[in-house]
Amino acid sequence: MIPAPAQSDHLAPQLPQMEANEFAAIADYAKTTFGLHLPLAKKEMVFARLIKRLRILGLRDFSTYLAYVKHADHAVERSEFLSALTTNVTQFFRENHHFDFLRDKLLPGFITKARAGQRVRLWSAGCSAGQEPYSIAMLILESCPDAAQLDLKILASDIDPRILDTAQTGEYPADQRTAIPAALHKFLKPATATEMFAIDAEPRKLISFAELNLIEDWPMRQGFDAIFCRNVAIYFDAPTQARLWDRFSQQTTLGGHLFIGHSERLSGPALATMRSVGITVYAKTSLP
Ligand SMILES: C[S@@+](CC[C@H](N)C(=O)[O-])C[C@H]1O[C@@H](n2cnc3c(N)ncnc32)[C@H](O)[C@@H]1O
Repeated sequence: MIPAPAQSDHLAPQLPQMEANEFAAIADYAKTTFGLHLPLAKKEMVFARLIKRLRILGLRDFSTYLAYVKHADHAVERSEFLSALTTNVTQFFRENHHFDFLRDKLLPGFITKARAGQRVRLWSAGCSAGQEPYSIAMLILESCPDAAQLDLKILASDIDPRILDTAQTGEYPADQRTAIPAALHKFLKPATATEMFAIDAEPRKLISFAELNLIEDWPMRQGFDAIFCRNVAIYFDAPTQARLWDRFSQQTTLGGHLFIGHSERLSGPALATMRSVGITVYAKTSLP
């Protein structure tokens, strides 16, 4: 009879488990640092996403991984942690009706205001790889070719410094070109790599990129005429969302507009100052 092989020769190396207290500590850190809401129902997803980071770093368990993420010198891993638990998915002219609303209902007023020498500000909050602010910039230039000479600017912010680098580079795979209306292709140019295209200089001139965590303090003191914060608050719990909408309302000029994601709804104190004026578009109609 052939003797049974020693078990240890055949067992796959044991995967670390995610203990209940480890999941709770990760969820607590994700909430306080990034505003992310990770209910127990997401434990398997959190395990599946973060186990890859443990393997890459050669760490033995989730407690060690969390200590690593929290370490002052490990900002890059904090970005990896956030990226693993959220998505940067975005596209040019995503939720196209928002851009129709902007072009038809808001831009004529913005352009008149800017040409009268006044300040006009738009904010793409949670801009990911930049398709959202570049879509806004191209639309503005189409209606107002001299926009870069006016006081008309777009702030594009995100928490993730690596995705902001991509946004600032402004180069995208060729297959994303089709999402951009043909009339705006004049704002595109060839990129260094043949299978990519790049955003030309004029739209770039309208945009300032900045790293900003939406659940922390904001440095901006003046109001915005339009804020796009789409498909970001979905990661936050209900009280964090309500606080965010309220802060956006305070940061919007009277008569200004807030655009949110298709699966998001305004809630909390902002409902007293902002009125629905379109599909997931709100106008600030009164002061608190
Ligand atoms: C799904 S993308 C949305 C991009 C774009 N707004 C759109 O709708 O196409 C979500 C973005 O929110 C960013 N994000 C997540 N938590 C954030 C936070 N606390 N503060 C700022 N940005 C955050 C992510 O880095 C990511 O780029």
